Amino acid sequence: MTIREVADLAHVSLGTVSNVLNNPSVVAPSTRERVREAIREAGFVRSTAAQQLRGGRSRTIGVVVLDIANPFFTEMVRGAEHVLRDHGYVLMLCSTEESPEQERRYMRILEEHRVDGLLITPAEQDLDRVVEFAGHGIPTVLIDRERGAQGLCSATVDDVRGGELAARHLMELGHREIAFLNGPVTIRQCADRRKGARRAMRSLGQRAGATLVEVGVASTTVEHGEAAVPELLALDPPPTGVICANDLLALGVLRGLAAAGRSVPGDVAVVGYDDVTFASMLSPALTSVRQPKYELGAAAAELLLEETGGSGHEHRDVRFEPELVVRASSGSGPR
Ligand code: RIB
Repeated sequence: MTIREVADLAHVSLGTVSNVLNNPSVVAPSTRERVREAIREAGFVRSTAAQQLRGGRSRTIGVVVLDIANPFFTEMVRGAEHVLRDHGYVLMLCSTEESPEQERRYMRILEEHRVDGLLITPAEQDLDRVVEFAGHGIPTVLIDRERGAQGLCSATVDDVRGGELAARHLMELGHREIAFLNGPVTIRQCADRRKGARRAMRSLGQRAGATLVEVGVASTTVEHGEAAVPELLALDPPPTGVICANDLLALGVLRGLAAAGRSVPGDVAVVGYDDVTFASMLSPALTSVRQPKYELGAAAAELLLEETGGSGHEHRDVRFEPELVVRASSGSGPR
């Protein structure tokens, strides 16, 4: 059914139907109800694409994350969606799998779809492309990435503090040979967690004679964590404590240590990062640095609504603090 057929059915003009759809307060209640009855009777559904062509809004928000297979991002997106859906928006979700090239492709597609806004956890080390995208008049908020000097809003968690919490925890338990299993430091979250662990080493570790050795993997996945265990165990001296850049890596390390006949935490204590839903369900339950995932997504969505709300908005950072959740995977000091 077209808008014209609805007008004929309700014996009103095209303009009256358009007003009922877009500006109902200007239409007399009796006429408004007659048109709405005709819409229901005709089964008319407004075409967003047609509305877009007339310069309307798409009611769609682009969301670009690093890895939708990571429960951290699904919970973060859930927080954003709950805020945005209450304002009539739907999400167009893109997972870059930490690829800057894929990110650039998705951003072109989102612009072609004329999204009304963008939430992005960048895979790119620099923010030039994101700033350029925002410069095209599309409100854009960084989520889980600091904005630096760029004119953007951001919602983030202090990952430097998070890395420090993880390392201090193992040092305070008496661990001296500590390994840091990290993803690519081109990803800001991995770089900041490393910075925090090194800060703990300087402030606490050196006095205690501790060492912190970093082992790098190409991607923060379960598979890469499991595959890194032989390299971790081959370190000399082998670590008695392992900090993982996220819980997926930690899950892989737990699997790899079990396959190698090592006990956790008896032989090797393991600390993850994110405290995703499965962390407390593992055996042993995983010690992890908790990020407020849902709140992070909701805060970024609120910032975006402020931006789309127009004048008077000032860009700002909403900053959350991480929290160490101690469980059995690190519950005791080295043997
Ligand atoms: O994608 C790597 C990590 O960055 C995720 O596990 C989450 O910690 C995010 O902050």
